Amino acid sequence: MTTRPSTASRSLSPDGGGDFDPYAARAQFPILSRTVNGKPLVYLDSAASAQKPRVVIDALTAAMEHSYANVHRGLHTLANETTEAFEAARESVARFLNAESPDQIIWTKGGTEAINLVASGLGQSIRPGDEIVITQMEHHANIVPWHMLRERFGAVLKWAPVTDDGALDMPALAALIGPRTRLVAVTHMSNVLGTVNDVRAIADLAHAAGALVLVDGCQGAVHCSPDVQALDADFYVFTGHKLFGPTGIGGLYGKRAALEALPPYQGGGEMIATVTEDTVTYAGLPHRFEAGTPPILEAIGLGAAIDWLGQFDAGAIRAHEAMLMDRVRVRLDGRNWLTEIGTAAGKGAIFTFTVDGAHAHDIAQVMDRYGVAVRAGLHCAEPLSRRFGVTSSARASFALYNTLEDADAFADAMIKAREFFA
Ligand code: ALA
Repeated sequence: MTTRPSTASRSLSPDGGGDFDPYAARAQFPILSRTVNGKPLVYLDSAASAQKPRVVIDALTAAMEHSYANVHRGLHTLANETTEAFEAARESVARFLNAESPDQIIWTKGGTEAINLVASGLGQSIRPGDEIVITQMEHHANIVPWHMLRERFGAVLKWAPVTDDGALDMPALAALIGPRTRLVAVTHMSNVLGTVNDVRAIADLAHAAGALVLVDGCQGAVHCSPDVQALDADFYVFTGHKLFGPTGIGGLYGKRAALEALPPYQGGGEMIATVTEDTVTYAGLPHRFEAGTPPILEAIGLGAAIDWLGQFDAGAIRAHEAMLMDRVRVRLDGRNWLTEIGTAAGKGAIFTFTVDGAHAHDIAQVMDRYGVAVRAGLHCAEPLSRRFGVTSSARASFALYNTLEDADAFADAMIKAREFFA
């Protein structure tokens, strides 16, 4: 295996050690016991969307079978019970992120909508020439909303470069931040490189220039134990379906002042204080940003996922995932037809690669024949692919339910896929 630029291979460690038992965790995910193409499923696409534990499935079913109505509007028992469950989920998220208050957690349909909410609000005060600093390793959700501010209001996008090993070039980033910077938007953990950024240092740089910082935590919320106060993030964005919860739910944490400075995002029921024929006044946080019937069941499901996740030691999960990466590297060491993209120190459990002589889509399709699910393509991060000079790559993304057997199956399937095209 070659890496960009160097090969990293470390020693094997025993699985299931420490305080975390991946086999016990895995047993709680019904889908992981199915077969694909006659082989046991090896699910390595959790960065795109994670599988759901039984408690999440049960929480959704229980809500629909026993305790469901619209929230905040009713005086009857079911409405009250559902409102309580819905707000309890918000409290779970607030605890998980160490937010100052549940009021600072805004439900959205996902990370993309959360970023669009901030961009739409910020856009109303953008002047031509105002600058937004982003990085080459963002996925499209943290690029396109800022491009829209460029197109519509004349904002200038400044791109912080990525080094050859996939780290953020911090001196270059610092040099881009200046008096015209309104916002620095950066991922906590890259969905392609696995790089974990020093978000606190970036927030310090942004704040010293009077700018806000938005952290895209779509991957970071899953793998980096975010503490939004320690990170000093003005905004932290997350999505539920990568956190073992349902699709259609995610959210935005904001510092109170940062959220209050944003105008309402969408108008409708629930986000108002009063409406007359001539006037409208708006509700306070968080409802001011939650027009219409919210994703009730999805929020309850996400609350169940986060409560479930809370039983595990996050450091032990990280160590387990790092061990899986070590195993993959050891198994693939010396394969000179393989290139790993992204080898920054401290990276998370994402293995993005190309295979000489085979298109990533073809590799992914052949691996699927062996039951191994990996993603291939641009990973919603086209500028990053261009930075590394590839039109497509394949990606295995590991989660707490993956095991050493999965890591071995991945390496075996990749070797067979390569032989198929050699
Ligand atoms: N951004 C998601 C991924 O990395 C969809 O696959």
